[in-house]
Amino acid sequence: MTLKEVDSTNNFLKESLSNSKPFPEGTVIMAEHQYAGRGQHQNVWHAQPGKNLTFSLLLMPHFLSPLQQFGLTSAVSLGVYDALHPLLGDALKIKWPNDIYYGNRKLGGMLIENMIQGGQIRNSVIGIGINVNQDNYPETAGSAISVKQILQTDYDLKNILAEICNHIEGWYLKLKAGKTADVRNTYLSRLYRLNELAQYRSNGETFEGRITNVTDTGLLVVERNGSEELYNLKEIEFINT
Ligand code: BTN
Repeated sequence: MTLKEVDSTNNFLKESLSNSKPFPEGTVIMAEHQYAGRGQHQNVWHAQPGKNLTFSLLLMPHFLSPLQQFGLTSAVSLGVYDALHPLLGDALKIKWPNDIYYGNRKLGGMLIENMIQGGQIRNSVIGIGINVNQDNYPETAGSAISVKQILQTDYDLKNILAEICNHIEGWYLKLKAGKTADVRNTYLSRLYRLNELAQYRSNGETFEGRITNVTDTGLLVVERNGSEELYNLKEIEFINT
C-alpha cells in the first residue's frame, strides 16, 4: 500500500497492530512523504518527498527468541544489500549493525522495532529508508549520498522496492529454515571496515582498532591494543579521518 503522506510508516504499521483486524505478515507500507520519519537513536529521518524509498515491512518471526533478534537484523540488511549490489557493486557495504554504506557514505538505514511476547518476537516492524533520487543534502545530513548522486540517473522507486522485498524474503526464509550460519557468514563478508585498521570512539576516548567479528547476539568485536573488546549499540562510534 502506498500512502501519499504519513508521519512515519513504522508508526502507521505499529498502530495497525492494535486494531481488531491487523495487517497480515508481509504487508508493505510505502510513503511518498513521511513528515516525521524516525531514525535510530531518536534521530529524525529526512527524505525529500517523492524522491526516496521510505517504507515499512511487517514480519512475524515467531520462530525467533529475543536473543536471536540480530539474525533478523542481518537477514534484512542482506536483503537490501543484495537488491542494490547489481546497481552499485562492491563499494556497497553493511555498516554494523544495519546501515547501508557506499564507500564511506550513508545510502540508507533501518529502524527495526520488535514486539516481544511470551519469549518470542511476535511482530517486527521493519522500517527502511534508502536515498534514491535526491540530488543534494544539507550539511546536517552528515555523510548522506543517494543512488542518483552515484550513478547520475533516476531510478524507479517501485522497482527497487520490489527487488528489496524479494531479497529480504529470500534471506528471511533462510533464517526460518535455520540456516543461521549462512546468514551470519554472508553478513560478515559484506561488513564495512571488516579487518581494516580504523578510528573509533568509546567512552570519550578515540582509539585505533580493527573489527574482527560480530557475535551471534550482535555485539561488535573490535581488536584494540592486541585484545578483543565487545561493543553494544551506542557504546562505539565510527570516526572518519
Ligand atoms: C537510521 O539509519 O537512522 C534508520 C532510518 C530508518 C528510516 C525509515 S524510513 C521508513 C521507516 N519509517 C520511519 O519513521 N523510519 C523508517
